[in-house]
Amino acid sequence: MDPRTNPYAPGAGTLPPELSGRDEIIERVSIQLDRCKNGLAFRGFLLVGLRGVGKTVLLSRLAQDTEANGFTVVSIETPERRSLPALLIPSLRTALIRLNLISAANDLGKKTLRALGGFVSAMKVKYQDIEFGLDLGNEPGIADSGDLENDLVSLFVEIGRTAKAKNSALVLFIDEIQYIEEAQFAALIMALHKCTQLQLPVALVGAGLPQLVGQAGRAKSYAERLFEYPEIGPLTADAAMTALTAPAHRKNVSFEAEALKEILEKTKCYPYFLQEWGKHSWQCANKSPITKQDAETATMLAISELDGSFFRVRFDRLTPSEKKYLRAMAELGSGPHRSGDIAHILQKDVQAVAPTRANLISKGMIYSPSHGDNGFTVPLFDGYMKRVMPTLN
Ligand SMILES: Nc1ncnc2c1ncn2[C@@H]1O[C@H](COP(=O)(O)OP(=O)(O)O)[C@@H](O)[C@H]1O
Ligand SMILES: [Mg+2]
Repeated sequence: MDPRTNPYAPGAGTLPPELSGRDEIIERVSIQLDRCKNGLAFRGFLLVGLRGVGKTVLLSRLAQDTEANGFTVVSIETPERRSLPALLIPSLRTALIRLNLISAANDLGKKTLRALGGFVSAMKVKYQDIEFGLDLGNEPGIADSGDLENDLVSLFVEIGRTAKAKNSALVLFIDEIQYIEEAQFAALIMALHKCTQLQLPVALVGAGLPQLVGQAGRAKSYAERLFEYPEIGPLTADAAMTALTAPAHRKNVSFEAEALKEILEKTKCYPYFLQEWGKHSWQCANKSPITKQDAETATMLAISELDGSFFRVRFDRLTPSEKKYLRAMAELGSGPHRSGDIAHILQKDVQAVAPTRANLISKGMIYSPSHGDNGFTVPLFDGYMKRVMPTLN
């Protein structure tokens, strides 16, 4: 059918035509944030899930809703290779402007902005990637010691007081949070914790790969009680069907039941794959309804496209020993798998392959759902490994 009207939207962070199956989590976040704004006990969120399950688009949607509800929102997208202060400074300044503090003749607001200025100067000495050029002044003794933990705590307390005085709340939305370096993540958690203790309205809604849960716990043991960690996973069968049929329906196109069955089975209801299969099914079909045969052709096309791009770019970043490790994992199925079992397939000692495993974790290719376990961070990657490396050697 007409590619010009194809509604499906595969791609990293690409808004889907129908954000299906996420109403419950959207409501949960909204409740906690309203509690935060009203000075009640609340928890922040760290949304965890594999690549392509829809964390980024969910986070954007939450940020949009939150902003529409009168909160002050700070959105940070890709923390990879940048220090937390470098990411926070420009966004916090924007947030303070939004809180309408700079021009307003408001002593608290001005003081907060000077505190941010002191923070900038102190952090510039330590982190080389801060490019912030504006001179905001400084507030001696607040957020200017040069110690990230101390300074971030005082800065957040200052901002929290200002937000409270304005009857607003500051909500940080941070994607790919697993890339934030541990000591900096610890400082962020501590700053949020302090605000909670003082009942100041500052909250975090973050998203990242599953290793995030362990990282947060290692950074600060009380992180466990500070956040909820909802797992963002594949959709339920009903939600997956809606993700496919609702956008088509709006264009007077339907799916045969057998076509839907084929797509749900092959995609395992992973949002990104649903978009790919939706797109290809639309392309393959000549007219409505989309048939089982269209869906089967779509499966072939989608897999070959994924093999050439989505899976391929990840594979290309690997060293030969990392490839072998992942191939051994694939031999065992979709996972997760014990380190010992993987080493066994490789006919090596667990210790001997531990560095390879560590590299794969830091590259974000695998994660450890529990001690000694290993799972692929990319859904269906086991199948790809077997296609690209047909034999173990
Ligand atoms: N709830 C959903 N329903 C339908 N499609 C979705 C949903 N969530 C995400 N998608 C689609 O999945 C793909 C991946 O989304 P993204 O947010 O980038 O995932 P992640 O950040 O978890 O890797 C995008 O093409 C997006 O349109
Ligand atoms: Mg993402």
